[in-house]
Amino acid sequence: MALIVLPSSGPEVERILDDTFPLWHDGLTRAAYGRFWTAQMRTPWGTGHLDRVALQDGRHLVSSAKRYDLAYRVDGRIRRVLGIGAVFTPPAYRGRGAARQMLTQMLETAEAEGYEYAALFSEIAPRFYEQLDFVPVPMIDWRLEIDRKDGGPPAMLVRSGEDRDVPGIAEMQATRGATARLSIERSEDYIRYGLAKKRLLAGLGAPGGRAVEFLVSEEGHQPVAYLVCVVQDGTWTIEEAGDRDPSGARLGGMLQVMLSRHPGETPPVIRGWWPASLRPPQVRLCDPRQPDEIFMLRPLKDRSLPLPPLSADDIAYWHGDVF
Ligand SMILES: CC(C)(COP(=O)(O)OP(=O)(O)OC[C@H]1O[C@@H](n2cnc3c(N)ncnc32)[C@H](O)[C@@H]1OP(=O)(O)O)[C@@H](O)C(=O)NCCC(=O)NCCS
Repeated sequence: MALIVLPSSGPEVERILDDTFPLWHDGLTRAAYGRFWTAQMRTPWGTGHLDRVALQDGRHLVSSAKRYDLAYRVDGRIRRVLGIGAVFTPPAYRGRGAARQMLTQMLETAEAEGYEYAALFSEIAPRFYEQLDFVPVPMIDWRLEIDRKDGGPPAMLVRSGEDRDVPGIAEMQATRGATARLSIERSEDYIRYGLAKKRLLAGLGAPGGRAVEFLVSEEGHQPVAYLVCVVQDGTWTIEEAGDRDPSGARLGGMLQVMLSRHPGETPPVIRGWWPASLRPPQVRLCDPRQPDEIFMLRPLKDRSLPLPPLSADDIAYWHGDVF
């Protein structure tokens, strides 16, 4: 059986989209689910860093997955990482080792191409991936409590983010990421891809279902703090955020401004994955939970590159970086 790279569109991909739609539609219609995939592939980052592979048995595709070409900073060194997503075997082919064989071939190919780690977010019990030497990495999903100032929100300019803010955001993320033992390297195109993906999902979904806020605070025409937040069903998920100030005080101020603009009676539930180095004085992290998706990592050259034991505090990984 051979591992093949699928074209970005065509009958094979349509079939996979038909099969995976009931599981991963995220509230989209089938047509919108297809457009969501095609549009991601057409972004400048997606074109060069994202594809779909399948295990072919004769004329049949017996398992398929998405591949992401990522870069992580692990203990100070940038490593090329194969991100694996949407592992799927059609029901008729399940239980015959198709997914395992496809994953094994994906890992071998990646190692031969110079990747140093493989990563995935498991939606199933991790045992299946542990058998392939993936190790769960601890992550915490926090609820954020924001001090509401009696005298009203701080006097700071908070505006919508724009494309010209992206270089400053990449710089902020690089500085913050360097303080963690594991972080994802966020190039400008990668940041644009993340924003486009969230906006596409909101725009292709039912009106009023999901909204994306991209906000920036600037000084001297430079972004000094920012956040990207998805608003859905009374919950704000902080997808990514940054602050040039090590304490994160400006980001805390932005959250206060956002809350003061919130017209509803019931305050939103605010959640996010949050790097340990970022502790805005206005924000209290509470109600820690293990995310639904289990982050798993596997060194590809297993003996020469042992996986360092990591605690949740060692990791700077935003919810928006889940794939
Ligand atoms: C999970 C999935 C990809 C496995 O495909 P497959 O080709 O049947 O897998 P294999 O034959 O190589 O391996 C079967 C193993 O998968 C495990 N598995 C299947 N579904 C599972 C689940 N929901 N939770 C945990 N393990 C599961 C089985 O326990 C089996 O392990 P075992 O042989 O030790 O008992 C397939 O069931 C599927 O497409 N499921 C729906 C999509 C999905 O959940 N994908 C995973 C996203 S992280």
